[in-house]
Amino acid sequence: MRIKFLGHACVQVQGSKTILIDPFLSGNPAAAVEANEVQADYILVTHGHGDHLGDTVEIAKRTGAKVIAMVELANWLNGQGVDGMGMNVGGAYAFENGLRVKVTPAWHSSQLPDGTPCGLAAGFIFWLDGLCFYHAGDTGLFGDMQQVIAPHDLDWAFIPIGDYYTMGPDDALTAAKWLNAKNYLPIHYNTFPLLRQDAGAFKAAVEAETPAKCAVLAPGEAVDI
Ligand code: NI
Ligand code: MN
Repeated sequence: MRIKFLGHACVQVQGSKTILIDPFLSGNPAAAVEANEVQADYILVTHGHGDHLGDTVEIAKRTGAKVIAMVELANWLNGQGVDGMGMNVGGAYAFENGLRVKVTPAWHSSQLPDGTPCGLAAGFIFWLDGLCFYHAGDTGLFGDMQQVIAPHDLDWAFIPIGDYYTMGPDDALTAAKWLNAKNYLPIHYNTFPLLRQDAGAFKAAVEAETPAKCAVLAPGEAVDI
């Protein structure tokens, strides 16, 4: 399997299926690929903000990917001619052999592209080919990372470190201690000047203060797992 970081919060997990999360590529100064060249069988969208919804509609229409999101956002996506599946916090579903998705809380807001408020933001736990992944979406630190999310025995956690709109590095380090994942990938930093962070320092802190490994990937880089 392969985890590829495409910039900002966009991560692609390639196994028996290709899972694409938060494909903000057009207008992303750090995007690694163009929206018209990315592949997906499933697209997971954590919330409606433009830096997460991104190119979801275009990619889903071109690839035929099923799009998994909170119900309010999925309803809007269905109105755009996309195959949207609306879930809600705490719910899980086995979409096919080898892929199960569970929606987690995230402390953040959500809105549609026209500015209409759009229910809650979310994160996702998903299982693909026997490994467990967590994409936190945009969120502040919250205690249920320890109580509700960590017990899923995460192999990989993709967590924001950019600060300003989400956790910064200090809270993300606490998150890493609470989530107890085997591996971390920092996301949602350096895309814009407000989100400037030292991912190398974050990696060093995680590896010094937890038993986990932390991968730092530049946009376009991948790690084989
Ligand atoms: Ni956001
Ligand atoms: Mn964001």
